[in-house]
Formats: sequence, C-alpha cells, structure tokens
Amino acid sequence: MAVSADFQDFVDEVLERNDITEVISEYAKLKRVGSRYAALCPLHNDKKSPSLSISPDKQLFHCFGCGAGGNVIHFIMAMEHLDFMDALKYLADRARIPMPEQGSSTDRKRREETMDKKQKIYQINAEAARYFYRHLAGDEGKDAYAYLKERGITNATIKMFGLGYAPAGWTRLLDYLKEKGYSEHDVFEAGLAKARDNGSFYDAFYDGRVMFPIINVQGNIIGFGGRIMQENSNTGKYLNTPETLVFKKKENLFGLNLAKNSKAGRMLLMEGYMDVISLHQAGINNAIASLGTAFTPEQARLLKKYTSKAVLCYDADDAGKKAALRAGDILTEQGFKTKVLTITDGKDPDEFIKTKGPEMFQVLVEGARPLIGYKIDAIKQHYDLNDTEQMLEFTEAAAGVLSEINNEIELELYTKQIAKEAGISPDTLSTQVKVLRRKQQQVKERQEERKERKNFEERTGGRRDLHEMGLKNAERLLLNFMAEEPAVMKKVKESGLTAEDFTEGIHRKLAEKLLACPDDRVDGNALLEQFSPEEIGVVAAILLDDKNTENKKEASIQPLAKVLDAKQRIKQAELLTNDDLHELDKMLKQKEQEKRRNQTWKTKNNPQ
Ligand code: CTP
Ligand code: MN
Repeated sequence: MAVSADFQDFVDEVLERNDITEVISEYAKLKRVGSRYAALCPLHNDKKSPSLSISPDKQLFHCFGCGAGGNVIHFIMAMEHLDFMDALKYLADRARIPMPEQGSSTDRKRREETMDKKQKIYQINAEAARYFYRHLAGDEGKDAYAYLKERGITNATIKMFGLGYAPAGWTRLLDYLKEKGYSEHDVFEAGLAKARDNGSFYDAFYDGRVMFPIINVQGNIIGFGGRIMQENSNTGKYLNTPETLVFKKKENLFGLNLAKNSKAGRMLLMEGYMDVISLHQAGINNAIASLGTAFTPEQARLLKKYTSKAVLCYDADDAGKKAALRAGDILTEQGFKTKVLTITDGKDPDEFIKTKGPEMFQVLVEGARPLIGYKIDAIKQHYDLNDTEQMLEFTEAAAGVLSEINNEIELELYTKQIAKEAGISPDTLSTQVKVLRRKQQQVKERQEERKERKNFEERTGGRRDLHEMGLKNAERLLLNFMAEEPAVMKKVKESGLTAEDFTEGIHRKLAEKLLACPDDRVDGNALLEQFSPEEIGVVAAILLDDKNTENKKEASIQPLAKVLDAKQRIKQAELLTNDDLHELDKMLKQKEQEKRRNQTWKTKNNPQ
C-alpha cells in the first residue's frame, strides 16, 4: 500500500487521542459490563436491549443489531455520514491535532480520481448540452423548435432550461465529442453513448429528440431526458441517461437547481419535466419533478434541505392519484407536511396552466388538501354513506388512516370530523384507532425482535456452548484467538491450516491477512485498513468477540480441531500432539462436571 509513513503516523495519533469510549459516549449512554461497555446503538433504531459493544482495550466497537463495527474512525464515518478523510479530519479537530499538509493516502487518491472522473462527465454533458442547444436553433432543429413553440414554450424558457435537440444519426454526438478530445469510452461513461457487442459505440440519443438537461443543485449537468416528438409504439416517449457515476435517478430532482432559490416556503412536486417547465415559465418557481421514476426517500431527504412543506401536483388520472399517495407516505416519513392538489381541468399541471393561467393554479395550490384529509376523501368515494353497513366499513377504513397520524392534535381534529360525518361518538372512533395503533406497534416490535434474534443467532451460530459450536463460529473464534495470541497463530501455522481452508469469504480474507503478519503479531488498526467499509463490521465483530476467554492457547484447541476436522483433514488433525488431545479431553470432562455441579446447586439453593 502506498500510504506514506507520515500519514500513517497521523492516523495513529488521531486514533490514540480519540478514545473510542469517550467519543461514543457523546452519542449514547454507556454501561460498563465487565471489561466492555454496552449501549443502545445510536447508528440504528435500537430501543430495547443494548446491542452496541465497545472494547476499551482494543479500541473497537461492534453492533450486533445493525452490523456496524470498527475503530473510532469507522464509528464517526457511520455516525456523521462522512467518508474516511472527513471522519479523520473531524476527529483530528476534536483532539486539536492539525491536519498534515498533504495527506497522500490511497483513500485521498481514490477520491481525487473519482472527482476527476465526475468532473470529466460534467464537462462532457455541458459540451453535449451546448451541441443540442445549437442544433435546436439550426436547420435540423426546425421541427423540434416548432414543436416547443406549439407547446407554448418561449425562447427565454428554452434558454433558462437549456433545452436542445439531438439530431438523428448514429454517431453525430460521438464524432463531435471526439473532435473535442474525448474518447468514445469517456462518452460511454457519461451515458451519452451505448456499446455494441463488437465493442463499437453509438449515440444514446440517436433518433431525433428534444433534449432536457438535468441539472443538480450544484449546477452541474448530470444527465438528459430526451422526448420523441411523435409518440409511437416503437420507443418510449422519454429516454433518460442511464445510471452513471453522476446520474442517480433516485437521488436527484428535475428543477431543484432553480426551485431551491424560491421563497415560496414549500415545493410543488409534479410528475413530468414539461409540468415543471410550464410552471416556471408562468412564474411559479417552486416546481420540481422526479426523474422518470416514482418519488424516493432519497429525494425526500434531498428536498428536506430546502423545505419541509410539499404539495403533490400529480396527474389527474388513476396512476397519478396512486403515485401521489405513495409519494405522500414517503414525505410524511421524512417529516414533511404534505398536501395534495387535485387538477380540475386538464390531465396535468402543464395543461391546466395553459388553459386556466397561473392565478387559477395558485388557487388550486391554496386549496390543496392535507394528505390525511385527501386519503379519507379517497376512501369515502368507495362507500355509500347512506347505507349503515357501508358506513361501518368506511369508519373502519378511516380508522386505519387515522392510526397513521403522529400529531395528537391533528388526530383529534380528524377523529371529531369523521365521527360527526358517521354519526358516532368521537370516543368510539378514538378507541378503534387506539386498538389499531397498538396492533401496528406490536407487529413492528415483533419484526424488530425477529431481526435482532436473527442477528444474534448469526453472531453466535445459534449456540452459546463451545461444546457444540458451529463451524462458522469455530472459524470466528479461532480467528479471534489468532489475532490475540501469537502462540495460537504459531499452532495454526504448524497445523498446516491455510486461509483457503476457511469456509466463508470474509473469514478467508481475514485469515490470509492474519497469517501474513510478521512474527505472528497483529497490529489491529493496520489490519482493519485492509478491509472495505462493508467488511469492517464483520471483521470488528470477530476481533471483539473472544467469548471472555482467559487462556486462549488452551481454548483454541477445540475450534482448531473443528476447523481441521470439517475440512476432512484428519491427517492434519493428527498433528495435534497427544498432549493437546489429552488437554482437550480433560477440558471437556471438567466442563461436564461443572455443569452438573451447577445444576445440583441450583436445585438445592434458591438463587437470589
Ligand atoms: N417518463 C419517462 N419515460 C416515459 C414516459 C415518462 O421517463 N416513457 C417520465 C418523464 O420524466 C416524464 C414523466 O415520466 O416527464 C411524466 O410522464 P408524462 O406525464 O407522460 O410526461 P410529461 O412530462 O407530461 O410529458 P408530455 O407533456 O410531453 O407528454
Ligand atoms: Mn404532460
């Protein structure tokens, strides 16, 4: 690894001066348990039993609830959502250690490479956007320009959104970008070219489309939507850039680069690019849309940076209504106050605003229904409220919606309103809601419990007794002992066991790194650095869990035998000396006796 010694010293100092128990205690209440600390894990919704375990000796943590683990840097990465370098900086600041002038870690290099790649894609996209824009004004773009005019788009709007035209042809853009010095592969990575099986490339937008640049909040063009002018059955109406290093459909919103500056105090979420464009043209500058997929939690989180109020302006058809309900639930989950607007004339906001104008659209926005009310209205339509039986069914369904409300005042208001409509007492309805809530809570708790139990079983192999230890567990315990105790490492090497003999990928990798340590001694932090963030949780779990073993050399006999045995290496197993076998036998007998003694004791005494 090309990590400079200076930088390694710096990392070591940061680790030394940031005690893991101190750092984690800033986020969670720690409880001492023997030589460890336990806490409710702040990295996930850990409500009942503390699943985070910290070893002050090893300066490692692991959560068997969410699987996170590692040293204090990994904790901060997970807790503060930082990458390695930023977590390092955070902890350096915390301990008042100045950052070294130029850290030349591999992480930084990799990050810089990624940055370079992203920059290159932004440049290619910007170059392509200019190319499309010029073609919209040119001869070949006549039809596309007429099409936009027909739809009421002004020149100012074309400019504001950078709309363009991708002329038909297989390598038009490719040829242009190659002339500008980019390789076909660069264009492919930007998502603007497709690859054929024979290795040649062609333009992603080859069939003549009106182009909509998609711009992130930083102002970079990350991709394009392309609309065919005459709808046909051969190809989708819209074609979008495929997922690239910078174009993540689920994490970006069309128009947010403009809407983020709006002073409206809320965002209007719509379905289509054209809706957003029409609204901005009409002076309504807080319109945004998802990128050809359903609205996602990631998009909600992005939006939350700018506002916590949203109005859903989805299409008037059934699909639009359904999509609005789904988006509504996602927004509620992220803490938004959400309203739903119903388009009264036309199929979508674009059509409405063209026929009715911006003032009338504002009237719709002001009249938008809060999500809960909208949901209840939607349910109501399915029942005939003059029929007693159907009225009963309606209140049951409505109670379901009410049980989702977190705000008690809101709950009371809606409960009163529905009770009045149904001609029942609010208390009756309220009781029904409480029963439902309790049921939902129980289901949730049971799910969580099941998950925790599964995690626990995975961690322990389902059995706690070393006696009947599963192979996976034996491997883990052996790896732990190897890391801790040079004598165990020596024994493992003598036994002829190799990394390949371990049954799981991560065990094999850990064994390989351990066996490669000089003098059988392991430097925990140097070890962790060789694992990816996804792997570190498991590795930390293994390194932390020594099952409170005092004499590791002695305790290693059994898991070692098990691993050797499992590999049907009976021959190698014979390498265990007679002494070892004798010791093993003695240990097993002793354990058996202890167990029996404990049981007799328990029946005789009344444990306090
Ligand atoms: N969409 C898509 N691929 C399609 C159809 C739609 O990616 N084949 C996405 C586009 O992002 C589009 C949105 O879904 O903007 C909404 O679709 P629709 O309402 O059909 O499109 P509009 O934006 O209203 O387009 P237009 O008014 O031009 O028909
Ligand atoms: Mn439309």
